[in-house]
Amino acid sequence: MKTPVSVVIESVGAYIPPKVLSNADLEKIVDTSDQWIFGRTGIRERRIVAEGMSTSDMAIEAALSCLASSKVPAAEIDLIIVASASPDYAFPSTACIVQHAILARTAAAFDMEIGCTGFIYALATGAQFISAGVYRNVMVIGAETLSRFVDWTDRNTCVLFGDGAGAALLTQGPAGEGILAFHLGADGSQWNLLSLPAGMARLPASEQTLKKGLHYIHMEGRAVFKFAVKAMDVSLKALLDKLGKTAGDIDLLIPHQANSRIIDSACQRFNIPREKIMMNIDKYGNTSSASIAIALYEAYSEGRIKKGDLVVLVGFGAGLSWGSLAIRW
Ligand code: ACO
Repeated sequence: MKTPVSVVIESVGAYIPPKVLSNADLEKIVDTSDQWIFGRTGIRERRIVAEGMSTSDMAIEAALSCLASSKVPAAEIDLIIVASASPDYAFPSTACIVQHAILARTAAAFDMEIGCTGFIYALATGAQFISAGVYRNVMVIGAETLSRFVDWTDRNTCVLFGDGAGAALLTQGPAGEGILAFHLGADGSQWNLLSLPAGMARLPASEQTLKKGLHYIHMEGRAVFKFAVKAMDVSLKALLDKLGKTAGDIDLLIPHQANSRIIDSACQRFNIPREKIMMNIDKYGNTSSASIAIALYEAYSEGRIKKGDLVVLVGFGAGLSWGSLAIRW
């Protein structure tokens, strides 16, 4: 769907927890090796949030970092959307906690929970409020504390995830710039391939759920891998068709950082050279809703995005869900 009024990214920000957990550290916790983890996923290390901090704290830091390089003051933010699969609470929303902390007193605030596709869904949603003329400034944040939802005795999952947050401030911009198009999708028939089974209404926390470890991330890795490769293909193709562009027109592709083999496989099929792909999975692992937000921030900070570039975001995750979004910077 093309947005009728231009919605641009005014500024970006991130919060990366300082504590590093390397593959060598993990070798001391579970039966694994740096060779296996790096070879199968591209991950060398991940960040772990400090004790006492949680998703909202990182979201607040990312929002403040975003505001620090923006002309828009917090008081002029109309809406805050936080994408997270690991919010502070079932309720209230993490977005409300951020709203209070950054003094965005008149902003509406809500969360979106779409796993790793969350940041793309949230950008597309925020852009609609601006293009419809309802709001002028929307803060979109992806933030995760996945380290508190992995079973640290399960080598299949604990090596994959990390913590962090990224943010982007959307505002109205000149015609022809900003978000050009997006493509969102979901296949609920496969919801059980990736879930956090217990702790909510279906399976409230109990002695039994704790014993069975049902409050940890459950993932059918191989099946999710197959889905992810296909979802990247489908979503990128649909987006390029909408834009009337080819993969060769993309200046920078920022994919969800779940597995370097998933990214490589999609890029090979679209014939996108490595230098046009943003990859930081080696440093952070899979930070779910935060991954594309952090990668966007890093790409911009490192000078890899220039004015006029066609930047494409693409992601997939729990739901199952997928999405892509194109920005003329
Ligand atoms: N260290 C050593 N060996 C391991 C480890 C580990 N950390 N983990 C698994 N293994 C073993 C398995 O036990 C298995 O051994 P076996 O053959 O003796 O049974 C072997 O390695 C192969 O296991 P697979 O699961 O088949 O390995 P695979 O190559 O599929 O890699 C992985 C697993 C990395 C999880 C991959 O399937 C993957 O990346 N899946 C997609 C994940 C993803 O994209 N998630 C996105 C969404 S996340 C979200 O939305 C929150």
